[in-house]
Amino acid sequence: MNILLAGGAGYIGSHTAVSLLDSGHEVVIVDNYCNSSPVAVKRIEEITGKKVISYDADVKDNVAINIIMQQNKIDCVIHFAGLKAVGESVQKPIEYYRNNIDTTLTLLECMRENGVHNFVFSSSATVYGEKNPIPYIETMERGRCSNPYGWTKSMMEQILEDAAKADKNLSVVLLRYFNPIGAHESGRIGEDPQGIPNNLMPYIAQVAVGRRDHLTIFGQDYATPDGTCRRDYIHVMDLADGHGKAVEYAASHKGCEVFNLGTGTPYSVLEIVRAFEEGNGVRIPYEFGPRREGDLPEFWANSDKAQQVLKWKPVHTLEDMCRDTWNWQKNNPNGYNS
Ligand code: NAD
Ligand code: WQD
Repeated sequence: MNILLAGGAGYIGSHTAVSLLDSGHEVVIVDNYCNSSPVAVKRIEEITGKKVISYDADVKDNVAINIIMQQNKIDCVIHFAGLKAVGESVQKPIEYYRNNIDTTLTLLECMRENGVHNFVFSSSATVYGEKNPIPYIETMERGRCSNPYGWTKSMMEQILEDAAKADKNLSVVLLRYFNPIGAHESGRIGEDPQGIPNNLMPYIAQVAVGRRDHLTIFGQDYATPDGTCRRDYIHVMDLADGHGKAVEYAASHKGCEVFNLGTGTPYSVLEIVRAFEEGNGVRIPYEFGPRREGDLPEFWANSDKAQQVLKWKPVHTLEDMCRDTWNWQKNNPNGYNS
């Protein structure tokens, strides 16, 4: 299939591009590089030995997306192009609603105009909100989100459900990611946050490489086994593999279907720090700080549906996640600007 990756130069998009190309698909990337680098596209080509058509364009730009769809016979769209920093979304809600929702609407309009019927969406465990019991399962109602970023995902899920209800030719797959970490085993692509990392694993990796002197662990008095928060970390290449399965599912079904992509096994912040230290033979100095606003004590996925329906199975261990993160970071200490 020929797959349009909106936001395909970013962290998850670039790994998915490699996985899809390795499985024999073709990809077209459109990205405005607001949170990524064109170097990532070169690296995708380098890893796979395949040429990738890419466009520097805003996914909100109807004219540009229409032209891209006219120039390339697209079978499926995967929509990664979102702003994703939770804290920033509280400061800049209008920018988050505008970017995340407009990109989705533009893609849907252009798909309709160009006869493209398959859509895979990067959603998030955050849509389960604050009250659902764990583990999260797809049959639960979406919950109240604690920040505008989460609400954009929840609203976009609703928009996509409604679009699929109205257009019987449309197939939508909503993928709810848990906590993606790790990198491609080559160490040539990986997560490259701008500024101070918001997320745990990139922060640890930057401490390990000497860009930051210590990690602050947000809270040590949660009602969890060691007092630190627990999350369902998933290797980004397992997540990427899930997209290939979702694309195939979309091409052979109509309507809207939702899948959790997580491993189902939670790890605490302290367990992640120890696994990174032991697996990579490095030390991560840390101190405890106050809880971070909006953090839930723990959550993880029930991923039976993806395993049964998509025949998807995460295969990477926490050790793999730590090793591959470090391989990327030590070879690219300043990310794509190294
Ligand atoms: P990322 O920031 O690395 O990738 C997003 C890409 O989209 C970037 O390359 C960015 O430049 C591009 N982009 C954003 N707005 C755009 C626009 N208007 N036009 C063109 N390009 C645009 O983030 P990621 O971690 O790869 O996440 C991909 C998607 O998955 C996002 O939608 C994110 O919300 C979602 N998600 C991520 C996580 C996570 O922990 N990384 C978890 C759940 C869901
Ligand atoms: C993990 C744990 C922190 C940094 C976020 C979004 C979520 C999804 C994935 C997109 C937490 C702790 C972190 C640090 C720390 N994204 N931590 N020190 O919060 O589970 O999920 O990314 O959809 O929507 O909210 O991930 O990596 O930020 O945090 O102690 O410097 O690490 O408190 O317990 P989170 P995270």
